Amino acid sequence: MAEPALEAVGLRRRFPHPSGDVEVLRGLELRVAAGELVTVSGRSGSGKSALLALLCGFDSPDSGSVLLDGVPIAGAPPWHTCAVLPQALGLANELTIAENVALPLRLRSDIPKPSAKDIHARVSDLLEELGIGDLGERYPLEVSFGQQQRVALARAVSGRPRVLLTDEPTAHLDAGSTPRVLRLLRRCAEEGAAVIVATHDDEVHRIADRRVRLLDGVLS
Ligand SMILES: Nc1ncnc2c1ncn2[C@@H]1O[C@H](COP(=O)(O)OP(=O)(O)OP(=O)(O)O)[C@@H](O)[C@H]1O
Ligand SMILES: [Mg+2]
Repeated sequence: MAEPALEAVGLRRRFPHPSGDVEVLRGLELRVAAGELVTVSGRSGSGKSALLALLCGFDSPDSGSVLLDGVPIAGAPPWHTCAVLPQALGLANELTIAENVALPLRLRSDIPKPSAKDIHARVSDLLEELGIGDLGERYPLEVSFGQQQRVALARAVSGRPRVLLTDEPTAHLDAGSTPRVLRLLRRCAEEGAAVIVATHDDEVHRIADRRVRLLDGVLS
């Protein structure tokens, strides 16, 4: 495989609980190259979301490390390097849908800020592509959960991140919206992102370059 964009080495994560600690990850290894789309399956509670939280630096492993382009991460990397569609979405409810999607473009400080016109065009294109082009001026709580989920996906991809992590991106979608999401995920990989998708959905596994399964704290 080409040099991995994202690498997890020996990840261990245990969550303490009064009725007995839960050891979710037990020396997990993963390598994903730029341009590769990898799906992660595994039963509910197997640790898929816990893994994504470690990969994006929202959480820290008890031991092991996560490397981006060969460099260990310390905390959450900048959003243009690693962006996330979390299972719990995490939209800013006080911002409109268009403002949520524009946020990564407005906050990015490593390159000259895009013009308002370019930001508007990028946001409109993404919302249109995901079938929610008419919702830009609404607030997240004024639309359905499946629509909010597509907003959070648009926000994750708007800044063309090097690594894209998505947690159950089709979980709340109707049959018409799923192909739109799958096309967008595929395109992100084709444009060079390392894409990881945690999912129970066979339709998503079908578009993967590689499928891994999380079982007993390791991937196979
Ligand atoms: N912050 C936490 N504190 C304590 N336990 C946690 C925490 N986060 C996750 N867990 C436990 O870790 C295990 C894995 O949870 P996780 O959410 O990663 O599962 P999942 O594979 O994403 O499930 P699903 O398919 O339902 O989304 C569960 O047993 C859960 O209770
Ligand atoms: Mg989960």
